[in-house]
Amino acid sequence: MKSEEIRKRFLDFFKEKGHKIIPSSPLIPADSTVLFTIAGMQQFNSALAGEEDPLEKFGSRILASCQKCFRTIDIEEVGNDTHHTFFEMLGNWSIGKGYFKEKAIEYALEFFCDVLKLEKDRIWVTIFKGEKGISKDEDSIQIWQENGILKERIKEFGMEDNFWGPVTETGPCGPCSEIYFDRGEDFGCGDKDCGPNCPNCQRFVELWNLVFMEYNKERDGKYVKLPKKNIDTGIGFERLVTILQNKESTYETDLFLPLIQRAENLSDKTYRKDKKSFRIVVDHIRGAVFLISEGVFPDNLGRGYVLRRILRRSIKYAKVLGLKDYWYVPLIKETVKIYEKIYSEVRRKETDIISVVQKEEEKFKRTLGKGLVQFEKLLKTKIKEQKSKIIEGKEVFDLYQSYGFPMELTKELAEEKGFKVDKKGFQKKFKQHQEISRIGVKKKFGGHGIEKIGIEEEKKKIIKLHTATHLLQAALRQILGKEIEQKGSDINMERLRFDFSYNRKVTPEEIKKVEDLVNQKIKKDLEVKEKEMPFERAINSGALSFFKEKYPDVVKVYTIFDPEIAEIFSKEICGGPHVKKTSELGFFQITKEESSGVSTRRIKAILK
Ligand code: SER
Repeated sequence: MKSEEIRKRFLDFFKEKGHKIIPSSPLIPADSTVLFTIAGMQQFNSALAGEEDPLEKFGSRILASCQKCFRTIDIEEVGNDTHHTFFEMLGNWSIGKGYFKEKAIEYALEFFCDVLKLEKDRIWVTIFKGEKGISKDEDSIQIWQENGILKERIKEFGMEDNFWGPVTETGPCGPCSEIYFDRGEDFGCGDKDCGPNCPNCQRFVELWNLVFMEYNKERDGKYVKLPKKNIDTGIGFERLVTILQNKESTYETDLFLPLIQRAENLSDKTYRKDKKSFRIVVDHIRGAVFLISEGVFPDNLGRGYVLRRILRRSIKYAKVLGLKDYWYVPLIKETVKIYEKIYSEVRRKETDIISVVQKEEEKFKRTLGKGLVQFEKLLKTKIKEQKSKIIEGKEVFDLYQSYGFPMELTKELAEEKGFKVDKKGFQKKFKQHQEISRIGVKKKFGGHGIEKIGIEEEKKKIIKLHTATHLLQAALRQILGKEIEQKGSDINMERLRFDFSYNRKVTPEEIKKVEDLVNQKIKKDLEVKEKEMPFERAINSGALSFFKEKYPDVVKVYTIFDPEIAEIFSKEICGGPHVKKTSELGFFQITKEESSGVSTRRIKAILK
């Protein structure tokens, strides 16, 4: 069964059971304290905690989705059979008044055994055995048995394995029950106690996690009963595909094989001979495609650092495999092909993705050579002076700071030569550096504040600045490149403020060009057209959206068309309101250009 078919069957199944299918939320969550989306439940977090009404927010209490996720804890594991940076998660939810354990378990077995035809006698489950004042999940034992799972295939575990903790420090959580698939004795260790969570072998693969959310973890670490219970489930999509396609590793499924084959065509080596290198290259390029498609740029901090790290790791292994120049182009294109139907942003951003990867490769190549020389020198000195085979935190940090060597790269190179790195020392140095860089960085993503202003005059001024913001974004994209992306916007009586992703200062010449372009469009007295349409259609028609925003199913699109050159100058999804004709704006002037955080620039502008 093709992966596309599996995804579809899951969503169709839950749709038939009355669930509303919710599109994946972005990998970059609205909550700026969280680095990435790591689970399907994240976009439902406030509703699960009882802080928001799921009916109001999502139009239903019972929901299902296929969610893009990205996890960084596994980066160093990538290369083995199962770990990835980017992955997808299938899930179903019942929030508040809906169904609970019984139905959740029934649905799970029906989907696995009746729809996907997994053999029931190869299914094992785990349940929460009770710990820290939370009682054993007796109900689940009974429900699993009533549904045909033998007692001996129900295993009990504690907090560490069978309790889903909140994604951030506080939040909804609860005991869980996990479904495992038995791959058979060939994969086993032969131990008589072998079963789910076996420490010796991978015979049992965890496929589906059913969380029975009953608690909220509070600031003081206590678990307090939620006012209403929820169901939160998650299937690791890649793993499920691996089992259904009967493969040993995810890299051999149709989600990865086309990428592996492309990479093989660019190399003299074969996948069978060096699986690890091929896997790292393709996993990291796939991850980078998704991060860049959401506006992340390579950087030395935060999300940008993660992107830089995976890109550089991928580049390093591409070198190991001797991949031909521009090796990433076919790999990016193939990734886009695999995912464009589900996540259309990868297609829309394909050119930007290629250009970001190309720039990062050039940058890395320039420093890599010099860095390697420095690295070799360091090792030679240590060997000559018979010092310990440890690369100190400060030395690792200097390599990072001066040559862009991510710590993990230094570690890998060092280990190849029998050296160790002082990870803790590096992290300490890195933290100090981060603190310094953070000073003055304010991350504020404001709305337009129109509702708050009552007085007519003020309203008019704000509306004009709002339209000017659209013209500014369009002009920036034309002058600086299409990869710039809105990061925030704020308008008051005096000025507009616009934050966008860009990794260097905008030069005075460029500022002038942007101003001139906006003023030219103002002078032309272009019409600002408003049209309502479904969100998907708006996006497919090329309308810009702001990824921090949650949009309703039907959105307004504002278009500014320049008939003289027969070109759409600006097209954005936006709640409005806007002026009717651009000449109402008068004269546009940029008053300030400054940094506003990591790879983010801020422009302030006025209308005169
Ligand atoms: N929150 C659980 C998980 O991510 C189930 O969705 O595994």
